[in-house]
Amino acid sequence: MKTMVSGIKPTGQLHLGNYLGALKNFVTYQDDYHMIAFIANLHCITVYQDPKELQTYLKDCIALYLACGLDPDKATIFLQTDVLEHAQLGFILNCNTYLGELNRMTQYKDKVAKNEINLTGGIYTYPTLMAADILMYDADYVPVGDDQKQHVELTRDVAIRFNNRYGETFKVPEPIIPKTGARIMSLSDPSKKMSKSDESNKGCIYLLDDLKIVHKKIMSAVTDDKAQVKYDVHNQPGIANLMTIYASLTGKTMSEIEKEFEGQLYGNFKKAVSAVVCDELAMIQEKYRNIVESNIMDEVLLKGKQFASKKAQEKLDLVQKKIGIEIR
Ligand code: TYM
Repeated sequence: MKTMVSGIKPTGQLHLGNYLGALKNFVTYQDDYHMIAFIANLHCITVYQDPKELQTYLKDCIALYLACGLDPDKATIFLQTDVLEHAQLGFILNCNTYLGELNRMTQYKDKVAKNEINLTGGIYTYPTLMAADILMYDADYVPVGDDQKQHVELTRDVAIRFNNRYGETFKVPEPIIPKTGARIMSLSDPSKKMSKSDESNKGCIYLLDDLKIVHKKIMSAVTDDKAQVKYDVHNQPGIANLMTIYASLTGKTMSEIEKEFEGQLYGNFKKAVSAVVCDELAMIQEKYRNIVESNIMDEVLLKGKQFASKKAQEKLDLVQKKIGIEIR
């Protein structure tokens, strides 16, 4: 069985972009692959987080993994900090990555371009920690949204370089980007990605949002004056984004959606989008409440930790022997 590895960093509540670009696909893949889905909590602290809030987000994230359908009997689910080897392999890979490569990472470059102050060393080097997360488990595939593709490509380059230097050690993974939903845009500004750090809060649908608020956010999504439901990312980005959300949740193609809403007002289309989103979130939220009450999260994380730790110890041991820092 081929292995997939992916993670989410809960620096805020998980949102519809995380769900459609990543989490929903993990659930689909767990039947045919060994899906290793972890919570990337070390990645959270590359930017300062309020410790109390972070704890809440972490717990919610674990519960949401399960509520969205990840099954601990099929998938391996664990907390990154429960497996200490990630940080150590991260440092080793850091030493096998060039500054020029890190300088080219879009997320870092964007922050520099925006003159963000007090950027940390963590934000600069986190792609090598991400490489460690992936290479640790001999992943064949890494299912991620579009914005993470560059990091998986860096992971591949680092793995190839390491293998050339020290002999075959890492499997070279491939990114898997969903055909629909790889880049869900903000509802209030469809030129920007839907993101946890959305300041206005209107453009982002959180998985735990009250459904009335979800409806409101969708009904007030920015569209255009063309009055036609047509998939045209360039000229009608707001409508294209709503179509993408609708397509991801219904499985319909863009031309089927265009036909379904031909001659109809945007209001009708938005109501239909809201209905499918609210149905999906209602299901997730109900399961989330049951999971939080049932207290099964510790048990799930312990099981995941036991499996991941064993694999990680073996891999780190091999790596350290190869590079010559072990004396036994
Ligand atoms: P993160 O936490 O920013 O995002 C988690 C996943 O959600 C996807 N995503 C989106 N997909 C579609 N539309 C959007 N608007 C949207 N926003 C986010 C992301 O592409 C990602 O798949 N560094 C990673 C976490 C990570 C990781 C890993 C992923 C750490 N180690 C190893 C894979 C493998 C991150 O910050 O993702």
